[in-house]
Amino acid sequence: MSETEQTKQTSTTGSTAGGNTTNDEVWIVGASGRVGRAVTARLAARGLTVVPVGRSRERMVAAWADAGLPAATKVVVADSAERIADEIVRDRPRVVVNTMGSFAATAPVIARACMSGGGHYVDQANDVAAVQALLALHDEAVRAGSILVTGAGFGVLATEAVVAKLCEDRPAPHRVRVDAAASVAVEAGLLGAALAASIVDVLTTGGRRYEHGRLVTSRLGADPQQLAFPDGESAKTAGVSSGELVAAQAVSGAPFVIATSALVPTAAPVRALLPLLGRLLSVPALRRLAVDRLARVRAKATPRPRRHSWGHAVVEWTDGTRREGWLRAGDGMDFTADVTAAVTEQLARGTARPGAWTPAAALGAELATAAGGTFVLG
Ligand SMILES: NC(=O)c1ccc[n+]([C@@H]2O[C@H](COP(=O)([O-])OP(=O)(O)OC[C@H]3O[C@@H](n4cnc5c(N)ncnc54)[C@H](OP(=O)(O)O)[C@@H]3O)[C@@H](O)[C@H]2O)c1
Repeated sequence: MSETEQTKQTSTTGSTAGGNTTNDEVWIVGASGRVGRAVTARLAARGLTVVPVGRSRERMVAAWADAGLPAATKVVVADSAERIADEIVRDRPRVVVNTMGSFAATAPVIARACMSGGGHYVDQANDVAAVQALLALHDEAVRAGSILVTGAGFGVLATEAVVAKLCEDRPAPHRVRVDAAASVAVEAGLLGAALAASIVDVLTTGGRRYEHGRLVTSRLGADPQQLAFPDGESAKTAGVSSGELVAAQAVSGAPFVIATSALVPTAAPVRALLPLLGRLLSVPALRRLAVDRLARVRAKATPRPRRHSWGHAVVEWTDGTRREGWLRAGDGMDFTADVTAAVTEQLARGTARPGAWTPAAALGAELATAAGGTFVLG
């Protein structure tokens, strides 16, 4: 089912990428969710014409009111990526921000609909399959004159931006390691299906790393380490298959790349159980059950565990040169919303080359500072 409630005619005087004409709207798919609400508030404050898109008008209207925004003049109600795509093809918004999750499945459908009208696309995907699926649309995006950005969140940008800085004006390095340590305040409420599915997907995918330029399987939770941050705090991280891994390889060209995250359990007994848990959750019925149960978990409001979120990279060249750098940010979720808002605003102005990109590849490493981060380079 899909329907568009519109009380105002929208202009169609926007960009004319790829010979097509978009209107001046920015659609937020998943406007009632955590990321969607935060991005909506930021874009509305920047004066963009924001349209909420999702499956429940009531929840979108309530989220809109909670954010203190004047009533939306247009609301798009649609309950699947395919139906949302139909609405995009019909209305031709200039930029679509996809926060509905399950990005490996939803991103190509929604991005292709954007391209059909020469519009642009942004998401916060952070798994290898979703990031690769979106980047695979590069040639189509160039032909359509569309800019597609995946991984517009803390993990991908906070690490790829540091790698890009460390590799500036240098040949491709031999080895890269990136570490993402987000510090996030938990808001009270249900975990929700989108986040629950992302957590289960991490467990079922297992680990990945690049060896000799090829993406190979490794153990989830490999390479555990205690990471000491420049501000004196520390956290444990361990290996994970993530969008950070793909972005770090793409931006550096290094044949050997690993990525670790503070979100992976590092206690030895739990790490030992991760492969078994992953295999169990690969059974479709168990996966559905786990996502359903996790989605209903009610979190208590909890302040963020550390003052800062940190992205970290260590880059090594064959001549023995080794460089290390950090990106410091505040709350990881706030940074994700700031990154998406900054990317979206620039796409609305058409200030990037058409193609499918990760955020720093599209808009440069300085995007991380535009989103509130600070580089600490060695
Ligand atoms: N890369 C990063 O740094 C980063 C950071 C945070 C989150 N994420 C990812 O971003 C995604 C969203 O996270 P979140 O915490 O914002 O999730 P959330 O709070 O559950 O929000 C998901 C939104 O999508 C909507 N939605 C879900 N299925 C839909 C469908 N079939 N049709 C239409 N709308 C649908 C939901 O609508 P209802 O209100 O109807 O449920 C809700 O508005 C997750 O995949 C998460 O893992 C990435």
